[in-house]
Amino acid sequence: MKLAIIGGTGLDQLDSFEILKKEEVDTVWGSPSSALTFGLWKGVELVFLARHGAEHTVAPHKINYRANIQALNDVGVDQVISVAAVGGIRADMGPGELIIPDQIIDYSHSRITTFYEDDEVVHIDFTEPYTASLRAALLASAKESSIHVVDGGTYACTQGPRLESAAEVRKLKNDGCDLIGMTAMPEAALAREAGLNYAACAVVANWGAGLVEGEISMAEIEKNLEQGMVSLKELLSVFLDRIE
Ligand code: HPA
Repeated sequence: MKLAIIGGTGLDQLDSFEILKKEEVDTVWGSPSSALTFGLWKGVELVFLARHGAEHTVAPHKINYRANIQALNDVGVDQVISVAAVGGIRADMGPGELIIPDQIIDYSHSRITTFYEDDEVVHIDFTEPYTASLRAALLASAKESSIHVVDGGTYACTQGPRLESAAEVRKLKNDGCDLIGMTAMPEAALAREAGLNYAACAVVANWGAGLVEGEISMAEIEKNLEQGMVSLKELLSVFLDRIE
């Protein structure tokens, strides 16, 4: 097993990560968002990729998702944990909560969504967009360490980079969405096309637009993410402890 963590907003770097090497790689689809960092975290070898770049300069709609997944595949990664900041819709998904989503609805557009662009027509099964065994391992880690996580939820992937209008969030809620982010797609689908196991841990940064009074501020998002990332790192640490 070779594990990668794709860090999202709030997790552009892993602290206490013992870096063995950093590699600027290139793929047939171009360059990934950041160098691949190979190292040991809690004694486990893993590869870290910063989805928005090491300095957080790549917006969700500009990410080269194919290059990111290809780069991980090229170095032999077979398990990917995606960390993502999200807005919460469902009542139990307030700021600071961790969620292991189990479904996705894709509202993004104008993104390249497949590795199969030429003559080959490939329809992957996507009934369960996240890998059950990897989700189960994350949930078991949470249970073992009494870290509160929400088991399941439908992730609405919006185009961004703007946040939603209140009416859009009402519509997403009516559609059955529980949390909102901007990066799960096409990332999850490409991981499936590449045959990688893929699960996500979402950290709630804010309530979805219009669910509480007032505007959403970046200061609020940053404050909640800071708190949520502490729990997330604890969870990942237990997850890594349980490997072998
Ligand atoms: N909407 C979409 N993406 C997000 C949000 C949100 O409210 N918060 C953090 N990422």
